[in-house]
Amino acid sequence: MSDIAKLQIGDNQYEFPLITGTENEVAIDIKTLRGATGGVTTIDPGYKNTGSCQSAITFLNGEEGILRYRGYSIEELAEKADFLEVAYALIFGELPTKEQLEKFHSDIKDKSIVDDDIKKIIDAFPKNAHPMGVLSSLTSALTAFNPSSVNVDSEEDMYNSVVKILGKFPVLVAWTMRKKQGLPLNYGSKSLGYVENVLKMMFEQPNEEYVQNEVLVNALDKLLILHADHEQNCSTSTVRIVGSSHAGLFASLSAGISALWGPLHGGANQAVLEMLEAIKEDGGDTKKYMAKAKDKNDPFRLMGFGHRVYKNFDPRAKIIKVAADEVLKELGVNDPILDIAKGLEQEALNDDYFVKRKLYPNVDFYSGIIYRAMGIPVEMFTVMFALGRLPGWIAQWREMRLGKEPIGRPRQVYTGENFRPFKDISNR
Ligand code: CMC
Repeated sequence: MSDIAKLQIGDNQYEFPLITGTENEVAIDIKTLRGATGGVTTIDPGYKNTGSCQSAITFLNGEEGILRYRGYSIEELAEKADFLEVAYALIFGELPTKEQLEKFHSDIKDKSIVDDDIKKIIDAFPKNAHPMGVLSSLTSALTAFNPSSVNVDSEEDMYNSVVKILGKFPVLVAWTMRKKQGLPLNYGSKSLGYVENVLKMMFEQPNEEYVQNEVLVNALDKLLILHADHEQNCSTSTVRIVGSSHAGLFASLSAGISALWGPLHGGANQAVLEMLEAIKEDGGDTKKYMAKAKDKNDPFRLMGFGHRVYKNFDPRAKIIKVAADEVLKELGVNDPILDIAKGLEQEALNDDYFVKRKLYPNVDFYSGIIYRAMGIPVEMFTVMFALGRLPGWIAQWREMRLGKEPIGRPRQVYTGENFRPFKDISNR
């Protein structure tokens, strides 16, 4: 194939170089488009055809259902690695040696204390505030308590900000949940693993020692790995674009959390559980809800189905479906909504509407069922997604800053009024 793309506008022809990625993805490099054509721009709602950056972090192929972090398959990582190893690989490019991992973990634990005044901010939220709103605000507030994390031009400054947020974020996650439940705000222990500390902080009761359950530790470890990165999705693009103005890491992450909150993105895991509950309450009639999802006059969508990129299957959903069966069995939980979920999936896989549009269960379809079996409240599901996605957001932010990417600033095609003179209020 030639490495040039040709564009004809009227009588004029323009040439643009092609860029080929390491997995042979081809892109037209239009950096010079506006200059060469005298201001012609491109329009691509939802950026369905637009590459915003070149990135060496995550590769996914939606047609073949491939997802790899730094070249390692998601299947192998979910089976063999732990979350902190994956976080290290995403952020720094290589799996850590034993010494590197120990130092990384120890630095994270050293930075895990959150300024006690953050508790006053938590106190100010109404009890019924959604945890994603609280988490986004607290993450942003961290900037005020750690001003040195904003101007991070050296790799060393960046490293310090990275271990700080990896240490403090799980504390904020746990405190967000505990405050709602009226439990005292606690800390993890330096003797525990990263995921063990998350569980201890979330579930420890004030009057008894928290005993780790290996089933929960492994299940959460796997879920966090599966959510850890997903290239240029809505929240990650948000983190990169906010960071491109040289806003600090914590402020960029706070914006990413807000983007993740929406039900079309990370908020889908809460929406799936609520949908499955509603179907159960309504007598378990999955056919009725399938019909609603297909009815163009009904805004209802089958939550947890469909994906912008995956068009055959979501490899994360495959792993989570198996894990859901295992975890529920090991915990001795018999949840009727797992059967409703499997029934819906079966019907959708055999339904023309879903087959034609290539709509398959995504990562969020079964994850909520595991979270619920672990005792995590439904409103916290998207917060758990954020906890998993944290290393991905950090890795993408770091890559963008080290790559000295320009500030993100898309163009538009204006479709409003042409010039008109101001009308005095008495004449309107
Ligand atoms: N239920 C019913 N119809 C659907 C669904 C669904 N879940 N998803 C897509 N469609 C239809 C849609 O109506 C459209 O039909 P038509 O061509 O007749 O107009 C067609 O399929 C294409 O949909 P789209 O909205 O143009 O596709 P998209 O790539 O813009 O959206 C999506 C992808 C994930 C936002 C969408 O599939 C959706 O809303 N799914 C439900 C929410 C969900 O589960 N989100 C979690 C995504 S995975 C986790 C993450 O990374 O965020």
